[in-house]
Amino acid sequence: MPKIAELFETMEYGPAPEAADEARAWIAARGPRFGHYIGGAWREPADGEFFATLDPSNEEQLGEIARGSTVDVDRAVAAARAAQAAWGDLGGHGRARYLYAIARHLQKHSRLFATLETLDNGKPIRESRDIDIPLVARHFYHHAGWAQLMESELADCEPLGVAGQIIPWNFPLLMLAWKIAPALATGNTVVLKPAEFTSLTALRFAELCREIDLPPGVVNIVTGDGRTGAAIVAHPDVDKIAFTGSTEVGRIIRETTAGTGKKISLELGGKSPFLVFDDADLDSVVEGVVDAIWFNQGQVCCAGSRILAHEGIADALADRLRARMETLRMGAPLDKSVDIGAIIAPVQLQKIESLVEEGREEGATVWQPSWSVPRDGWFYPPTLCTDVSPAAKIAQVEIFGPVVVQMTFRTPAEAVALANNTRYGLAASVWTENVNLALDIASQIKAGTVWINCTNVFDAASGFGGYRESGFGREGGREGLREYVRRRSEAAESGPRGNSDPAQGDEQADARAQAPAPAQAPAPAPLPAIDRTAKLYIGGRQARPDGGYSLKVLDHQGRAAGEVARGNRKDARNAVEAALAASWAGTTAHLRAQILYYAGENLDARRAAFEDRLRALTGCDAEAAGREVEASVRRLFTYAAWADKWDGAVHRTPFRNVTLAMPEPLGVMAVICPPEPALLGFISSVVPSVALGNSVVAVASERWPLLATDFYQVIETSDVPPGVINILTGVEEELRPTLAGHDAVDGMWYFGTDEGAADVERRSASNLKRTWVEAARGRDWFGPGGEGREFLRHASQIKNIWVPYGE
Ligand code: NAI
Ligand code: MG
Repeated sequence: MPKIAELFETMEYGPAPEAADEARAWIAARGPRFGHYIGGAWREPADGEFFATLDPSNEEQLGEIARGSTVDVDRAVAAARAAQAAWGDLGGHGRARYLYAIARHLQKHSRLFATLETLDNGKPIRESRDIDIPLVARHFYHHAGWAQLMESELADCEPLGVAGQIIPWNFPLLMLAWKIAPALATGNTVVLKPAEFTSLTALRFAELCREIDLPPGVVNIVTGDGRTGAAIVAHPDVDKIAFTGSTEVGRIIRETTAGTGKKISLELGGKSPFLVFDDADLDSVVEGVVDAIWFNQGQVCCAGSRILAHEGIADALADRLRARMETLRMGAPLDKSVDIGAIIAPVQLQKIESLVEEGREEGATVWQPSWSVPRDGWFYPPTLCTDVSPAAKIAQVEIFGPVVVQMTFRTPAEAVALANNTRYGLAASVWTENVNLALDIASQIKAGTVWINCTNVFDAASGFGGYRESGFGREGGREGLREYVRRRSEAAESGPRGNSDPAQGDEQADARAQAPAPAQAPAPAPLPAIDRTAKLYIGGRQARPDGGYSLKVLDHQGRAAGEVARGNRKDARNAVEAALAASWAGTTAHLRAQILYYAGENLDARRAAFEDRLRALTGCDAEAAGREVEASVRRLFTYAAWADKWDGAVHRTPFRNVTLAMPEPLGVMAVICPPEPALLGFISSVVPSVALGNSVVAVASERWPLLATDFYQVIETSDVPPGVINILTGVEEELRPTLAGHDAVDGMWYFGTDEGAADVERRSASNLKRTWVEAARGRDWFGPGGEGREFLRHASQIKNIWVPYGE
């Protein structure tokens, strides 16, 4: 008689297939040819084109999907637009009722949604049933709550209007939920395009919208491929684009929306590190790796695809992983005991195969389990690559398959350096029993989510999104809501970029440009213009411009008032280098606050000199000059106050977790200061970033640069470390392209013209830096809109650190 333990070892799993009858019956009844869902009804595609959707596990055709044309997109956007006002006016409670109904109905039909998802996508039923669909319902419940609270929690906000949403195929219904729930909660209507490989659950969701009597036009589903997506992105009546998918397409979307005033959020790829320290519990680590890279066949944007193991345990870990990989079960996704399902499409399978082949050629040792993969359908076995150098292609490129590379480190510092050796920054996972080490490492990794002793956990209460080229914007939680609203006054302020009349916007701008002119302030300038040549201010030193040119600065009457350096590309790059070298983020918030208070005090002490300068240059009267300097001193105090109060949150995510949401500085910020007010505009646009630990390269107002250059003295006497504030003068158009296109600049603010704003957005696509651009004329820098939370939000990004507790 064999021992029981042996029996367990040798016992075969019998097949335990989930029945797909109901899903197939639904496809047959509703399809098998599906039109678009527009304005609450099914519509045939305008040009009558359809394509097949397949089951990736056996290549069987499931149904036919309409390929959306620009006409279909037009219709859907028109339906969304027509429905928006009433949906917004319905109020938070009314919308909460609908979102609640969606969540309830999803749960009632959860089995149908799960089997449909598995049929169309090839993911194991265990995952769609236990992970995808429950998270979908959770997302709608959570956002029903935000709808309910919108009037109190986002009191100063209004919906954007029509949101265009484009999602990938790896979590079809879950990505739909991440997009639709926050949009609807905040009063927007949507046009959503599912991925071409996986439209069925979105179409079933459309039907659900009918079942709960959601007002027609609030949710519109247009199916199709990249061309359909591009038509949504290009549509002039769409106010917001939310995209999840490849970095390549994300970059295209950034470029094509540049300057249109569309708000965008991008959730892109990753090459997320999975760090294992030598005191980690290796059994848990092995199961962690299974979740990190073999969940959903590795087709996960935040997959832990780079294991970084302490060299003392690396071999032991690889041995255990290989043993575990032998026991993974791959096969029919509808089988309840299958761990790994099918790859979405041949194109993805080929991509995986060729990247692994390249890895082998580059010298990697490629290991796969001894069992063979199913012959029908598109499958790829779990794969472990060792002997991989950090620069190797398979260590840098997103494979989007069940392939993990393992590398080693010796010290925590080396682990962090390796972890951050990527253009991406979506997620990371840190394994150690030492909580001090875990939190220390978490704070140093550049990623939007860091999981400690866990991985791939998600919840609607916690924001999710990237640093660096993994995109920007967050989905989930409070910060996710911000992606779908704007300040109530923003539309009016943004002139031609909002819905207001462009001509009127220009008139206002002209009126304001003339405001400080002598006509209003007849008093003669109190002092003769002072001749002085200001240099650039880089790395804590005054620096001569590289090109050796200067520019004349004229006062309000056109008289020479001095000269400033004409900075060029080289100067801009030097300033970025100096900002990079400044170690400001590591200082305490308390210290930053002290320094900003001190700067306020020092500006106050030089009040008379700054007031004289303002009067002489701009021709404003004594009272106006006094008001501007006073407002500037107060603004320094405001951000000194904020420096240690821009806190995060602790989210109540399920499963014995605390999720720490921590705002972090972006790093190096480039700021094109508003043309005016001369002093207050400079202070208001530079200091918020400084307060939160960013270093700044500021381009002074081209018209009134001398106020910024006078400010050196304040910086120098206030203990601001070298490189934290760098000031460039010159022609804004000459400096802007270098800064907007610079890969070491993490964020850029621009207050200028519509053309300049578009240029910044377009060039920022190079490294997907965060941008905040606006035509400067609309903002009242003296009022409450000239400071505060909006500025701080744009100067920081949230990192969510998941810390489980309990044994
Ligand atoms: P993709 O980025 O082309 O597709 C994502 C979505 O964007 C789909 O709905 C697609 O129809 C749409 N789309 C494609 N071109 C578009 C355009 N020019 N304008 C607007 N929408 C467009 O990704 P694809 O081709 O499915 O996969 C390629 C690679 O992208 C994968 O191997 C993986 O590395 C990465 N990827 C990352 C995802 C993530 O969750 N971050 C999800 C899917 C893919
Ligand atoms: Mg399919």
